[in-house]
Amino acid sequence: MQLVSGTIWNLKPSHSNRFVFEELSDGALAWDSSGKIQAVGPAKLLRKKYPKAREEKYPNSIILPGFIDTHIHFPQMRRIGCHGESLLGWLNKYIFPEEIEMSQKSIVRQFAPLFFNELLLNGTTASLIFSSSDASTTELLFQAAEKSGVTAVIGKVSMDRLAPKPLLRTPKRDREESVELIKKWHGRHKRLFYALTPRFSPACSDNLMHTLGELHQEYPSLTIQTHFAENLEELQLVKKMFPRSKDYLHTYEQFGLLGARTVLAHGIYATPRELDRLANSKAHLAHCPTSNLFLGSGLFPLGAYQDQKINVSIGTDVGAGTSFSVWNTLAAAYQVQRLRKSDIDPTQLLEMATLAGARALGLEDQLGNFEVGKSADFQIIDWSKQPILKARIESSQDAEDRFFACLFHFEKSLLQAVFAGGKKITRRKLL
Ligand code: GUN
Ligand code: ZN
Repeated sequence: MQLVSGTIWNLKPSHSNRFVFEELSDGALAWDSSGKIQAVGPAKLLRKKYPKAREEKYPNSIILPGFIDTHIHFPQMRRIGCHGESLLGWLNKYIFPEEIEMSQKSIVRQFAPLFFNELLLNGTTASLIFSSSDASTTELLFQAAEKSGVTAVIGKVSMDRLAPKPLLRTPKRDREESVELIKKWHGRHKRLFYALTPRFSPACSDNLMHTLGELHQEYPSLTIQTHFAENLEELQLVKKMFPRSKDYLHTYEQFGLLGARTVLAHGIYATPRELDRLANSKAHLAHCPTSNLFLGSGLFPLGAYQDQKINVSIGTDVGAGTSFSVWNTLAAAYQVQRLRKSDIDPTQLLEMATLAGARALGLEDQLGNFEVGKSADFQIIDWSKQPILKARIESSQDAEDRFFACLFHFEKSLLQAVFAGGKKITRRKLL
């Protein structure tokens, strides 16, 4: 048995399926050798309960659940901050050429470990990842994820049109390569999973979408990840390319790609029918505010999703997104709602970054908060290292306020350590 002690932040289940923000100063977390949480509570009590446990003390620090990034592109990590384009121009000018480059094995071997290190340095312990359309890139990405100890749901991008030839795969080849990756990786260590990944419907023929729908019937536990209703030009393109579909969402729905295992990124321009269908199908929405601001895509209507009780998680969407940090991304999510004359409270923000992500990944029984039986995935933030944050934390009476302040003060140097499956990964190891 192992213990960490310090100030614990957690989302605790309460009545009516809601979660409350809980702070335990002088708290502790205990987990067993399999990496599963055994108890959370006052440190004194846990020390008594587990007198033989090895304890690590973290004074001046917050221990909170590892974040879950539900939308990020590995092969775009070197293209954060490419100037002057909106979605379709940006894809053509910067991203497609980069995804070709990032399919070279030597480059992937170099950058895949850095990708997972960067996630961990920012307190992210689980993520839903787009690879490139290349099978060996995806294989190497899985290998790096396995080595790093994180939870990762990864998909080889499927597309058979609208991009340069080296990125396209026929439905037959795409299916064969996907099946090989599924058989090898899906469910490995209960931490690595495969995601069917049609890039977005304009880049996928009916035949390819149909093939992916069939694959999902064969492997219903697979996550499906894609893009949806991000940009007005993209909406026009979808209308032109799918004249017989009811709307954008229907281009996925008609091929059996919409359901409780589907995670759609963006959804800024969802229509009332689409919101209804998202709610009825129990699909998930990954909100990517830094990406939406960077590309000028639009301001996400969070309220419309909340009204329909659609699960909304957070995504960094690197490389359209401007940061690997979910902390920074939550800060942007808050500011996007201010621009809409709306609001997100701190508890909701923490839930977007943790439990909502766990639901999106279909891993709510394993991840998202400190409940007995879940994986010991957490980050430790030392607020005393940064004098302005220290002053704020020490003067604030309210735990939610302290969490909220952290969104705007977070820097990687505050991260003391991160634990994935109960295994400690120090900052030093990641740098
Ligand atoms: N739509 C299709 N592909 C992409 C992508 O790579 N990034 C974003 N933000 N939107 C997309
Ligand atoms: Zn994306």
